[in-house]
Amino acid sequence: MSNYKRTLITTALPYANGPVHIGHLAGVYVPADIYARYLRLNGQEVTLVGGSDEHGVPITIKAKAEGVTPQDIVDRYHKIIKDSFEELGISFDVYSRTTTELHAQTASEFFRHLYDKGEFVEQTSMQLYDEKANQFLADRYVVGECPHCHNPRAYGDQCEVCGTSLNATDLINPVSAITGNTPVLRETKHWYLPLDKWEPALRKWILDGHKEWKVNVYGQCKSWLDLGLQPRAVSRDLDWGVPVPVEGADGKVLYVWFDAPIGYISNTRELYPESWEKWWKDPQTRIINFIGKDNIVFHCIVFPTMLMAYGDNYQLPDNVPANEFLNLEGDKISTSRNWAVWLHEYLQDFPGKQDVLRYVLTANAPETKDNDFTWADFQTRNNSELVAILGNFVNRAVVLTHKYFDGKVPADVHMTDAETAVFDEMDRIRTAMSQNIDTFHFRDALKEAMNLARLGNRYLQETEPWKVAKTDIGRVATILYTALQICGSIAVAFEPFTPFMSKRLCKMVGLDKPLEWSMIGRRDLVAGGTMLGAPEFMFEKIEDDAVQAQITRLQETKRNNEINAWKPAPQSADVDFDTFMKADIRVGTVLECERVPKADKLLRFLIDDGMEKRTIVSGIAKYYDPADLVGHQVCFIANLPPRKLKGIVSQGMILSAEDRDGRLVVIGPSAPVAPGVQVK
Ligand code: MF3
Ligand code: ZN
Repeated sequence: MSNYKRTLITTALPYANGPVHIGHLAGVYVPADIYARYLRLNGQEVTLVGGSDEHGVPITIKAKAEGVTPQDIVDRYHKIIKDSFEELGISFDVYSRTTTELHAQTASEFFRHLYDKGEFVEQTSMQLYDEKANQFLADRYVVGECPHCHNPRAYGDQCEVCGTSLNATDLINPVSAITGNTPVLRETKHWYLPLDKWEPALRKWILDGHKEWKVNVYGQCKSWLDLGLQPRAVSRDLDWGVPVPVEGADGKVLYVWFDAPIGYISNTRELYPESWEKWWKDPQTRIINFIGKDNIVFHCIVFPTMLMAYGDNYQLPDNVPANEFLNLEGDKISTSRNWAVWLHEYLQDFPGKQDVLRYVLTANAPETKDNDFTWADFQTRNNSELVAILGNFVNRAVVLTHKYFDGKVPADVHMTDAETAVFDEMDRIRTAMSQNIDTFHFRDALKEAMNLARLGNRYLQETEPWKVAKTDIGRVATILYTALQICGSIAVAFEPFTPFMSKRLCKMVGLDKPLEWSMIGRRDLVAGGTMLGAPEFMFEKIEDDAVQAQITRLQETKRNNEINAWKPAPQSADVDFDTFMKADIRVGTVLECERVPKADKLLRFLIDDGMEKRTIVSGIAKYYDPADLVGHQVCFIANLPPRKLKGIVSQGMILSAEDRDGRLVVIGPSAPVAPGVQVK
């Protein structure tokens, strides 16, 4: 934090085709907010910019599927996203969207400037065209057979079975997802940004100039650069987006990855119509892009190239602290499979618990590798860290002050070595936290913040004011004064992480001045004589049933997904007729049916097979009440060798169909027949 005047913090613009989930939060928004709040506490000039990314093909596909307009879709999700960010306390200075007039103007002007400078290469290529829908087909609009693994439903940009990225023209038997028509190839013209031309500049800037970037970011950039960069198309044939501002470009819009990062600029402009330029063009502004790992190439290669090509003193990002991915209960988060914890639902299910989510996502942030969110961990971190360590300490300090000093912070204080050690440790923690946050190690910073509460608990444990009170109330004054200073420091140190708690804690300990980072460890933070508020619990225990409800919901999702993914088994190899006829399938009437003791799957049947009675054991106990089957007719294979199951000799096998969810349904004739007749 030295030779710059201000920091512009950007957060990846989430696509407005769905709500925001914990993966987005842990990867981008929570760390960006921590960083912004921390810099503000340090008295820095900071702007935190966000907004919704409202263009791109997936939004148009969703709109089509629902029979609404793309604008309807983005209006719906922009509102959900914006409101839920606000409720979580993400302290955006501006949260806008890419369908504003100002953004269209900014993006359009940006393109036009590059165009006029001759920074683009125009190229024609053959693209798939749907003659029925009268439009070119964006990659996602084409489905066909994957040339690698022969999955019949690969998309024009990627095969989701083998993971290969594809061009729509690679697909075997491509079909338009709009009309089902077979598309034709048609020539189309697009504008390309020649990344190859900028490769030496990018190498110098990143590989030589930014060795301090996170290894995952630096490494990805290096491998892109080493592979060699290609020109990238920055326009698309689509009717949703910012129109290409060039004569004769009807039906063409800017590629979503061209206009979206310009959204950072438009949103800054919206916030500061007069002074936005100093946030982008002054070398004393530091720009930090918070993103997820899937966005690295766009923020480290493509957007910087756009900025360099533009010129006019546009500044490149100083750092791009991209995170890895957060998984959920061991599986990759997926919007389409609904495998996620959605922020707006969390806020409904856990009202007032914004800080808990913020805390857990930071404590477990995927900073250097993918990480896993589990509800069990969520509960443990709340109950045994926030409640048992932090909440407990703060509560004890305040309760004891009420008990011995009527809630007034003691003023007559005589520090001993024990107190000096406490304040020294707080100084150490503040420095360690700063170092960690300055280098984007938010997990470690939070661990250090928690050490303040640990320190407080240890201090009270060692000094035992409740015992000392019997003999030396003067000493208790010093102890509680010191404990309350720790509480004040906790309120400051946790402000970036758990701002709601911080506010309540400030109120409880009567800390009413604006917070500053340097207050952590101060010896006179909570002034003697201050009246404390009533003792409150900063966190409350989360019970098993609340967490179990979430786990159950995820299990249901998983089950539904499995059912939806069900496909009929491939047809078995041919069987000749004589072989088939060897199986003697007959109809029998159920005379008796009962559960087999100590075997939860098995039912014992007594069947009237027209000749005598036969016993058959069948594994369908989970799906039937045995009494319901008595009197029914079932089909069974009569000529199988007898088999012993749980001590019972089974003389045949009852036929049943296995449904998509694994449920077994017994097969019988559709009208009554004589027991013993054959099935042919
Ligand atoms: N919408 C993109 C995503 O969710 C991120 C866009 S970031 C921006 O992956 F820079 F383009 F804005
Ligand atoms: Zn494939």
